[in-house]
Amino acid sequence: MTYDVTAVRACFPALREGAAHFDGPGGSQVPEAVAEAVAGALRAAVSNRGAETAAERRADGIVTEARRAMADLLGATPGGVVFGRSMTQLTYDMARALAKEWHPGDEVVVTTLDHDANIRPWTQAAEARGVTVRWADFDPESGELDVGAIANLLTERTRLVAVTAASNLLGTRPDIPAIAERVHGAGALLYVDGVHLTPHSLVDVGRLGADFYACSPYKFLGPHLGVLAADPGLLESVRPDKLLPSSDAVPERFELGTLPYELLAGTTAAVDFLAGLVPGEGTRRERLTGSMAALEEHERVMLDRLDAGLAEIAGVTSYGAASRRRTPTTLFSVGHVRPADAYRFLAERGVNAPASSFYALECSRRLGLGDTGALRAGIAPYTDESDVDRLLKGVHELAGEAVRPEPA
Ligand SMILES: Cc1ncc(COP(=O)(O)O)c(C=O)c1O
Repeated sequence: MTYDVTAVRACFPALREGAAHFDGPGGSQVPEAVAEAVAGALRAAVSNRGAETAAERRADGIVTEARRAMADLLGATPGGVVFGRSMTQLTYDMARALAKEWHPGDEVVVTTLDHDANIRPWTQAAEARGVTVRWADFDPESGELDVGAIANLLTERTRLVAVTAASNLLGTRPDIPAIAERVHGAGALLYVDGVHLTPHSLVDVGRLGADFYACSPYKFLGPHLGVLAADPGLLESVRPDKLLPSSDAVPERFELGTLPYELLAGTTAAVDFLAGLVPGEGTRRERLTGSMAALEEHERVMLDRLDAGLAEIAGVTSYGAASRRRTPTTLFSVGHVRPADAYRFLAERGVNAPASSFYALECSRRLGLGDTGALRAGIAPYTDESDVDRLLKGVHELAGEAVRPEPA
């Protein structure tokens, strides 16, 4: 089914402000249906979850629906879907809970490709328990993180491997199923950061082999919160710190305090929106399968246009664009222009392509970009050719200015 980007764009009120948005990897724009769902939950009578009053039942229904929606999106089990404030918060909480069972001399593996949210919670929990941290390194030339880079570090003391399903800086997509096989072979758990993959590709946590899979709806057209999916049986074996009167059931055991019902309603609406990106029949999971395939194809075409255009501009350096499999995300710099200046130059022309290391600090340093990073352009469901051409025009002008000789 063809992807109608004009029809998709019409659903996003924010696009009427006129900017070309390449800032999706930092947070996507939101369709009207999501905003409506959030507002609708706030306008209706909502109480704490329960069964006595209509308000209690509404809150309960919102939570149940959101777990179902996320399970459909991720190929997960609704009873294993945990909601939290952000992926960072959920990962810190899980690291602290899992670390209770770690012993001095145990080992965890993290990677230099990852966002800091899938590094520091593990290294800090490891430090607190006398656990050794091993670092798997990616190849800064190709942007690839080879399976062997992780497999070579596994020992019988490895308790957990934390790895990203897609780099938010380079777009690189490590071979998670192959990594999972090796990690499980060593008797360790695999914690996958799916924040940057989930907006771009249909996820199946079972097929990936992730024991834990974390993502953030605000990256895939939804509201600002985080989601962690895991097998309910595995979650049963983990004992997080919690209040005495709060539920000890799974997944509620991991959800501290009252859930943000309005954001959960928005999350369900975001998943429904993704499922309807192209017309389709069947269950929501089946419709998601069709629409995410169409989206992937659309984003690939936009990325190819962007990469080809950037390759033609003298002075542009692209990083990691050689990687075998990547999300539609491009990191680049323009001559010797400071990334912050390039970002401002483009912003003044209505093109939002921020420059930073975007919290993928180790990755940026490994690329030789220090803590400053470079410009990042992310393709989103609403990106069209005119957006890409506006970005290329801006970069062209910038490159021209960068090489223009100083007036005598
Ligand atoms: C790859 C990746 N992981 C983790 C995070 C952190 O997500 P959150 O803001 O939900 O904590 C981000 C945010 O940019 C990200 O891009």
